[in-house]
Amino acid sequence: MAVSTEIISPEALAQQGEYMDRVRAWWASQGVTPRAYIDTYGCQQNEADSERMLGMLLEMGYQAQEEPEGADIIIINTCAVREHAEQRVFGNLGALTHTKRRHGGQKIFFTGCMAGQQIVVDRIRKSYPHVDCVLSSHAQWQLPELLYHSLTGSKRQFVTPDKGNIAEGLPVARKGQLKGWVSIMYGCNNFCTYCIVPYVRGRERSRQPEDIVREVREMIDSGFKDITLLGQNVNSYGKDLGLGVDFADLLRMLSELPGDFVLRFMTSHPKDASKKLFDTMASSPKIAKHIHLPFQAGNDRVLKAMNRSYTSGQYLELVRYAREKMPDLVLTSDVIVGFPGETDEEFEDTLKLVEQVRYDALFTFIFSPRTGTPAAKMDDPFTKAQKQARFDRLLETQNRISQEKHSAYVGKTLRVLVDGQDGEFLTARTDGGRLVRLEGDPALVGTFQNVTITGNTTWSLTGSIEEA
Ligand code: SAM
Ligand code: SF4
Ligand code: F3S
Repeated sequence: MAVSTEIISPEALAQQGEYMDRVRAWWASQGVTPRAYIDTYGCQQNEADSERMLGMLLEMGYQAQEEPEGADIIIINTCAVREHAEQRVFGNLGALTHTKRRHGGQKIFFTGCMAGQQIVVDRIRKSYPHVDCVLSSHAQWQLPELLYHSLTGSKRQFVTPDKGNIAEGLPVARKGQLKGWVSIMYGCNNFCTYCIVPYVRGRERSRQPEDIVREVREMIDSGFKDITLLGQNVNSYGKDLGLGVDFADLLRMLSELPGDFVLRFMTSHPKDASKKLFDTMASSPKIAKHIHLPFQAGNDRVLKAMNRSYTSGQYLELVRYAREKMPDLVLTSDVIVGFPGETDEEFEDTLKLVEQVRYDALFTFIFSPRTGTPAAKMDDPFTKAQKQARFDRLLETQNRISQEKHSAYVGKTLRVLVDGQDGEFLTARTDGGRLVRLEGDPALVGTFQNVTITGNTTWSLTGSIEEA
C-alpha cells in the first residue's frame, strides 16, 4: 500500500535558502566568521544527517571546528537506541553549560532521535535551559530558519513534528573524499518490539530512484570510490513509491553507472532480503560482497516476541543461498542478548546459530528497555548479571570465530580500495571493511588494487600488491 509522504516543496526549500542568506548577512554585520561544531551519536543515518546540517551551515558562512569550545553553534545529533547512548548525551549536554558560559551568544541545538521523544523534549525544556533549540530529525531541513530566529531573538524553540518528510537538494558537506553515505530511504515500518527507531524516525519513505541515481553519479564524478546506501531496512526500498522499482533494481541501476567504484548498503532486514537481491549482488563486481544481516536472536519464540517475522530456519536458508551465490561473502550481524523472558535454553539457540553461520563480525547488545516500546512492558525475570554472563559467552564465541576467519585470509588474493597512509604503509580496506597494510606508492591512494594477503595481526592484515 502506498503511504503518503510529505515531500518538502521547492518553494519551502527556497525559503530556507533565503534564511541562509539572512544568517550570512547577520554574521557579516557582526564582522565575524562564525564557527560550528557538530557532535554526532548513533548510526550512519545520523552521520549522513550531520553532513547535511554541516552543508547548510557552511553555506551560511560557518566554518567547521572539531571541538565545542568557542563554537558559535553546537549541534548535538543524538541517538536513542539504548539507554547508555542517552545517558552519554545527557552527561555531555550538562557539561556544555560551562562551555556556553565562557562564550556569550553560543547557540546549542539539540536534534536527532532523542529529540523525537516527548519525554526527552520535556526534560530538556525543564532541566537544560542552556539548550536554545530542539528540532527532531524531521525538522532538520528548517535549520536555517530556526538558526536565524535564534540569532535575532532570545526565545527557545521546540520544533518536533512527528510526520516524516523528504527534502531533496540540501547541501551536503561530506567528511571524506573517497567514502560517502547516501540515504535512499528514511524511517522504518517494522516495529520490532524492542526498538525505538520507528517512533522517532517515522514511517518508511523512499527517495525517488532518479534523485538517488543523480546523487550517486555526482559523487562518482567527484572522485568517491566507496558509496554506502543507507536505510533502516533497505530491502523494503520502493514499496511506498509504487513504481515497480525494488532495492535490487535500484542497486543494479547504480552498479551500471560508469566509473570505478564499489557500492555497499545497510541495513538489510532478513524478512525482506530476496534471492533477487543476492543474485544482483553476485552479478556485479561493483557491489561489495558484504551483507549486514541482523538476526537478533536464534530462538523462534524469541524472534516472534521481537516481531521479527522470520524463523531461524528461514534465516539460515537465506544465508545458505547467499553463500551459494557468493562463496566469499562477508557476513556481519546484530544480536540482542537478554530480551525480556529469554531463558538460558533459548539463549543457547543464539550461540548455536552463531556457530553455524560463522559471521565475520557481530555487533552484540544487551537488551535495553526503551520507554514506549512493547518490550519495555514485558516481564523480565532475568538479572543483569545473568545477561552479562550470556553476553560474555557470546563475545568469547564470536572472538574465536572472527580470529579464525581473519587468519584464513592469509594466502588469498582480494580486491581492496587503497584509502590512506599510516606512517610508511598504505592502508586499504577489503569488501568486508577489513584493514590491510601494504607497501606501495602513495599515488595509489584512491585506487582499487588486487593484493595477496601475506600475514595477519589481531586487528589488521598485511598484503602485497600484485603486479598488473
Ligand atoms: N534497522 C536495523 C535492523 O533492523 O537490523 C538496525 C537498527 S538499530 C539502529 C541497530 C541495532 O541496535 C539493532 O539491530 C539491534 O540489534 C540493536 N537494538 C535496537 N534496539 C535495541 C534495544 N532496545 N536494546 C538493545 N539493542 C537494541
Ligand atoms: Fe528497529 Fe526493527 Fe526497524 Fe531495525 S527493522 S530499525 S530493529 S524496528
Ligand atoms: Fe540511534 Fe536513531 Fe540511528 S536511535 S541508531 S541514531 S536511527
